Amino acid sequence: MSSMAPIGVFDSGIGGTTVVKELMKSLPNEKIVYFGDTARVPYGNKSKETIIMYSRQIADFLISQGVKAIVIACNTASALALETLRHELKVPIIGVVKPGAKAAAEATENNRIGVIATRATINSGIYEEFLHKTDPKIKIFKKACPLFVPLVEEGWISDDITRQIIHRYLDELLEKDIDALILGCTHYPLLAEEIAKVAGKKIKLVNPAFECAREFRYMLEENDLLCEEKQDPVHEFYVSDGPRAFAELAGSFLGEGIVGPDEVKIRNFEQR
Ligand code: DGL
Repeated sequence: MSSMAPIGVFDSGIGGTTVVKELMKSLPNEKIVYFGDTARVPYGNKSKETIIMYSRQIADFLISQGVKAIVIACNTASALALETLRHELKVPIIGVVKPGAKAAAEATENNRIGVIATRATINSGIYEEFLHKTDPKIKIFKKACPLFVPLVEEGWISDDITRQIIHRYLDELLEKDIDALILGCTHYPLLAEEIAKVAGKKIKLVNPAFECAREFRYMLEENDLLCEEKQDPVHEFYVSDGPRAFAELAGSFLGEGIVGPDEVKIRNFEQR
């Protein structure tokens, strides 16, 4: 496999663009092929079997586009499908959960960490597993926040309703004296500003995307797949539905010239 090949990134929707942003910063030469499964979002309330099936279809599609490695830019798919895909695929693959747990363990000073994520990620217990591997003394307080995903997909980032929902989900968790809060769903960093206002200054918000981008870089280096040639890659974006809505939101989040309004392509598995 050539180091000039693109990298594949996927999520259930727009959330994975928070990881794309970090990948673009730490790996500026790498061309990204992104897939957002907007026809089937949310993943967070689906079964493990369904999430594995969807993830497998997307990974196969990305591989058909010639990617040399894959980032699962979705906590839910990382929690439930990463191990299966790692065994099945011939290209290296990484998820966001392990890097997120590592970043949170480094961020906490009082060993009290909050985790917010989809129901599927919370119920999988995967954040506890990784955090307790780092330090069994860490106390974890968790809360599923399923309504955050549709709010983000709808683009209601700074909105009264969004603020009310953030309070409804977080107020109880914020009484637990946590000093770090893992944004354990890649959609949530898009709400980080509003979440930070509710959480207050004493709580560090942990976005797993930073550490994930760093670890992905190591993985490429280890596999001799890092693109060292200076270039200005033109990224490709695919969704399974609603390309214009995706382009609008992703375009405003990723910055000018990254996702054009007519440049998001459709790939719908159910029509095959
Ligand atoms: N952005 C995803 C995650 O990190 C999935 C959200 C969803 O589809 O429910 O978990």
